[in-house]
Amino acid sequence: MTLFEWKDMYSVNVAEIDNQHKLLVESLNGLYEAMLTRKAKEIIDGILKGLTDYAGVHFSYEERLMQMHGYPDYSEHKKKHEAFIKKVTDFTEKHKRGSLMVSMEVLNFLKEWLRDHILVIDKQYSTFFNEKGVH
Ligand SMILES: [Fe+2]
Ligand SMILES: [Fe+2]
Repeated sequence: MTLFEWKDMYSVNVAEIDNQHKLLVESLNGLYEAMLTRKAKEIIDGILKGLTDYAGVHFSYEERLMQMHGYPDYSEHKKKHEAFIKKVTDFTEKHKRGSLMVSMEVLNFLKEWLRDHILVIDKQYSTFFNEKGVH
């Protein structure tokens, strides 16, 4: 029932970042499975809290590495992270107001984030970091 299977081609060739990205895939799969078994209402709160924590840890990790090594697209990349945080804050507010649509919206948002950010934008720093000796 897994929605998204991690493949080596998704790797950014930086081990710690791959591990962090895999955690996001786990949240996505967990939410998907909960929705299939009609348990989304029970876990959406934890998913949203987990995403807030994840954003804090993972984005600051990536951004710190970028700053340390003078990554040229740092500001553009950081803006995308900020948009993610804003979105999760909006979902959390909506959830608190009792919206029943939040689980589906979060699921779609995470799928898009994997497709457009992790597999495209994050992969752009792969060679750059590797050339700086970061693996
Ligand atoms: Fe990332
Ligand atoms: Fe990123």
